[in-house]
Amino acid sequence: MAMAGLHVLLYPLLLAALLQSCHGQERKVHIVYMGERPRGDFSAASMHHSMLERVLGSISSAKKSLIYSYGKSFNGFAAKLTDEEVAKFSEMEGVISVIPNHKLQLHTTRSWDFLGFTQGKVGIPQQGNVIVGLLDTGIWPESESFSDEGLSSPPSKWKGICQGANFTCNNKIIGARYYNSENNYDVTDFKSPRDSEGHGTHTSSTAAGREVAGASYFGLAEGTARGGHPGARIAMYKICWSSGCFVADILAAFDDAIADGVDIISVSLGLGGPIPYFEDPIAIGSFHAIRNGILTSCSAGNSGPFPYTVANYAPWILTVAASTIDRKFVAQVALGNGQVYTGLSINGFNLSGQSFPLIWGGDAANYSAGADPIISKYCFPGFMNSNKVQGKIILCENPGDGTFGDGTGILIGHGVGTIISDPSITDFAFSYPLPATVISTEDGLQILDYIRTTENPIATILVGETWKDIMAPYVVSFSSRGPNPITPDILKPDLTAPGVDILAAWSPVAPPSIDFDDTRRVKFNIISGTSMSCPHTSGAAAYVKAAHPNWSPAAIKSALMTTAYIVDSKKHQDLEFAYGSGQINPLQATEPGLVYDASEVDYIDFLCKQGYNTTTLKFITGDNSSFCNSTTPGRAWDLNYPSFSVAVEDGQPIKAVFTRTVTNVGLPNSTYTVTGYMPAPVTVIIEPSVLSFSAIGEKKSFTVKVFGPNIAQQPIMSGAIVWSHGAYAVRSPVVVYTILPGFADSSFSMPHEKPDFKGSSFYHKNGILGHE
Ligand SMILES: *[C@@H]1O[C@H](CO)[C@@H](O)[C@H](O)[C@H]1NC(C)=O
Ligand SMILES: *[C@@H]1O[C@H](CO)[C@@H](O)[C@H](O)[C@H]1NC(C)=O
Ligand SMILES: *[C@@H]1O[C@H](CO)[C@@H](O)[C@H](O)[C@H]1NC(C)=O
Ligand SMILES: *[C@@H]1O[C@H](CO)[C@@H](O)[C@H](O)[C@H]1NC(C)=O
Ligand SMILES: *[C@@H]1O[C@H](CO)[C@@H](O)[C@H](O)[C@H]1NC(C)=O
Ligand SMILES: *[C@@H]1O[C@H](CO)[C@@H](O)[C@H](O)[C@H]1NC(C)=O
Ligand SMILES: *[C@@H]1O[C@H](CO)[C@@H](O)[C@H](O)[C@H]1NC(C)=O
Repeated sequence: MAMAGLHVLLYPLLLAALLQSCHGQERKVHIVYMGERPRGDFSAASMHHSMLERVLGSISSAKKSLIYSYGKSFNGFAAKLTDEEVAKFSEMEGVISVIPNHKLQLHTTRSWDFLGFTQGKVGIPQQGNVIVGLLDTGIWPESESFSDEGLSSPPSKWKGICQGANFTCNNKIIGARYYNSENNYDVTDFKSPRDSEGHGTHTSSTAAGREVAGASYFGLAEGTARGGHPGARIAMYKICWSSGCFVADILAAFDDAIADGVDIISVSLGLGGPIPYFEDPIAIGSFHAIRNGILTSCSAGNSGPFPYTVANYAPWILTVAASTIDRKFVAQVALGNGQVYTGLSINGFNLSGQSFPLIWGGDAANYSAGADPIISKYCFPGFMNSNKVQGKIILCENPGDGTFGDGTGILIGHGVGTIISDPSITDFAFSYPLPATVISTEDGLQILDYIRTTENPIATILVGETWKDIMAPYVVSFSSRGPNPITPDILKPDLTAPGVDILAAWSPVAPPSIDFDDTRRVKFNIISGTSMSCPHTSGAAAYVKAAHPNWSPAAIKSALMTTAYIVDSKKHQDLEFAYGSGQINPLQATEPGLVYDASEVDYIDFLCKQGYNTTTLKFITGDNSSFCNSTTPGRAWDLNYPSFSVAVEDGQPIKAVFTRTVTNVGLPNSTYTVTGYMPAPVTVIIEPSVLSFSAIGEKKSFTVKVFGPNIAQQPIMSGAIVWSHGAYAVRSPVVVYTILPGFADSSFSMPHEKPDFKGSSFYHKNGILGHE
């Protein structure tokens, strides 16, 4: 079963097998998805009741089984069903998919300035009528980031509500709802949109938080925190709980958000593994959102750097990778012999320069707990001898297999701090519940040598600092990579945005590190993940929407992609599969010159070529006039996408023809000329090479032919096409790569096996890791 969750980066202490058995007669929550809501007079509830009654056999069992009727924005329901009932529904006419209620993974100040999107330059409108809806863990409404000072009442189109006790909306947070299909509440969960985990407060303030001066994490990263569009309104749809985020709730949130009237939807979570579009709740919800003029911006996932790991890859979604900003968090270690080592850590603790006895974790094994040095050197909780750990600094190791420690073992043993040697972490920092830093394996060996050769080894961990990272921006190792696992001819991710060590608002009841024993409380926290890059892009999209209220979701997406900053290819082996079109440039995105627009019919045509037939599409779109003009599956090259992807079967020649149409949104009278480049032996021909416009809104088409000799085992070659006029440069990447035989024949119904996918997936549980 596919798993999914928030795309925030947590400590993957143990790679849990959270798979639940799906067999037997036990009733489990399933979602029966039936496409667009029928037009005209339509009672979703009575339709769903009678369907359930027919299959379950009685009115009372139908009533007991139904959890949600979706009928505001699309048609479907969630109900508790046996396997047999699931099979019956699957065969029904008009049922597009039956989806088990699986769990999804929850996949700053400085970050906006780094994007050239500075407060002064922007003149950000404090008043705004753009509404950003977020599907997340809830929100802390009393945070200063959500003050409504100076904001007028919500725009008149708003139809949302504020739900739940002890939770008040204002003119900033104009709507808040919560969903819990499994009816599973932990003691730490608020039965309201209030956020007990911090994640949703963080993403909301990143997308649309007000300016808050003097924000910092224990003095680190001090500055003015703000969202991408501080004038935007926020609507929170709380779908994640300590038990996880479930499909039925995600669909319920989309159903409401679309009907409530949000403009942009921000979703920092996703399913792992390739899933057909209409079995993925985020692809389904965002498809119906697009039909209502709403762009959905999603995290790409935290399963990098392995290929084919990108999540949320539907072409109507804006898929966001995570990259660094120009600062990194370091904490130094000073040994008794005067040696100083620099590690990565967000260390808010001040030991005032005092040194403590230093030991190796392997020397603190709790033998009665079954540990030995081989185990205890990793310092995992439960394996440490607290008599040895107490009052000391412990040198620990991370296994380097994707699992790593969070200091909890040392905290429980009453240690003072921990120095963690790690073979892999080089590009992001965590915060820990005690003084801690992460050093290289080589430095770890030197410190171990010092411990072994010194009578009374001592050390101290210095207060954390922020250093300039001159390498930035680069896509962080954990950010999920393309190629697209379902549609190889659509390049994913679409772009990248800051997602590493981002400061933003936090829930004051949640610990700042992922450890419930951490009793500190903060108003702002620094965390990493594509969960953090997604709301950066949602905020930028809201900003573009504010400047151009009538632009379609595809136009906003195109503007963000074609104006993105070019990312240094030399820092990325996997090139566009890491960063897509580049790093967002919110300011420039309001002035793209030309856009690659697309509307529903373009996506329908795309779906036809993916193998969906007219019968299915009529239900998905609710429109009897939509039909597939071609019955043979084809390539995705005619979808009017702002990037170009050519997937070539291994050993075959390069040969692709794209047609594209650009719409003039710049100056009325303008003449664009094209330049392009591709590495040898690939040739690109663009016809015509000049496009002249005489009006805003005018459309012009061109073709792009990409060809070359047979290629084999080619992970990626890339170049770009740029249409230029004066200051406008409309840039699209072009990638060519080989895939396994059969992969290029789009086939929606058969999710392809991921080739050699070494899953180092991060998982989320209870906002905590390692407490399984
Ligand atoms: C009510 O809200 C306050 C914040 O204003 C919070 O601290 C408290 O825990 C909430 N109480 C309940 C019962 O949810
Ligand atoms: C750490 O604490 C010491 C003394 O308690 C103080 O002098 C120093 O300024 C503090 N350092 C930081 C960075 O806060
Ligand atoms: C060793 O582990 C056992 C079992 O977990 C625990 O009860 C005991 O307190 C530990 N001993 C020390 C000295 O930490
Ligand atoms: C099929 O062709 C008709 C007539 O040209 C057109 O109206 C319709 O939009 C096309 N359908 C798709 C899915 O492209
Ligand atoms: C259309 O596709 C669905 C789902 O794959 C299938 O059940 C149905 O038989 C197909 N209809 C036609 C007319 O091919
Ligand atoms: C679409 O066609 C079906 C039967 O083919 C019919 O029941 C339905 O009312 C039609 N819908 C519309 C909106 O015309
Ligand atoms: C565009 O160019 C045409 C002819 O060159 C001219 O008549 C027209 O006034 C121009 N329009 C604008 C808005 O500059």
